[in-house]
Amino acid sequence: MIDKKNLHFKILVICWLPLLLIIVDIFLDHLGPNPIRALHIRLGDWSLRFLWITLAITPIQVITNWRGMSDYRRMFGLFCFTYASLHLFVYLVMDQALQWQAIGQDILESTYIWFGVLAYIIIFLLAITTPNRSKKLMGKNWKKLHRFIYLASLLAILHYFLQLKGNLALPFLYALILFILLSFRLILVFKTRQVSKLMLPKGRR
Ligand code: HEM
Repeated sequence: MIDKKNLHFKILVICWLPLLLIIVDIFLDHLGPNPIRALHIRLGDWSLRFLWITLAITPIQVITNWRGMSDYRRMFGLFCFTYASLHLFVYLVMDQALQWQAIGQDILESTYIWFGVLAYIIIFLLAITTPNRSKKLMGKNWKKLHRFIYLASLLAILHYFLQLKGNLALPFLYALILFILLSFRLILVFKTRQVSKLMLPKGRR
């Protein structure tokens, strides 16, 4: 029997761990020659990882038949939002020093930032509508809105690809994982539709 509270606490600690390690590296001055860039990249990477983990919950749940997994989807999604917000904070405050004109110009000139901004807007909307109260208030629209996570993941991987100058091995690996996760989801939707069709009376199929 799984101790739910204990597992919940352990997962919560693991999710904060990357941030803790980043803070330790800041204090130990271990961020390399360009600390702001390193900080920015590490927070962006973790946001992407948490987005992928959130997307992986349904496949894991279907494969393992472990219903309790869905409790953690919300938690991982909120950590994706937390790391993305810190990534944005470093960009706006530490990298651009809140120089709005320079930020505007950067956004206009760099397509990859557009993709990041759009992905962030979606992740932000999903995060603020996470509470059960919003779910109740929004009814069917809640599910529709939360399906935008798939679009956010596509925008995020484009944002990742387009800003890279060198080695593309890692982004290709992330893209492959995303392809597998989205394919799994599509197969699931297709199968569910077929099953519901079979449940209909013969004349209405
Ligand atoms: C308003 C939103 C965003 C802005 C302005 C932004 C800005 C940036 C910038 C300027 C870089 C380049 C860093 C550098 O090489 O110096 C970057 C990289 C990156 N961003 Fe974003 N970003 C945003 C949203 C997001 C979101 C939502 C995610 C993930 C879900 C994300 C994930 C990443 C990743 C993975 C990298 C590459 C890190 C690496 O090279 O390993 N970003 N972002």
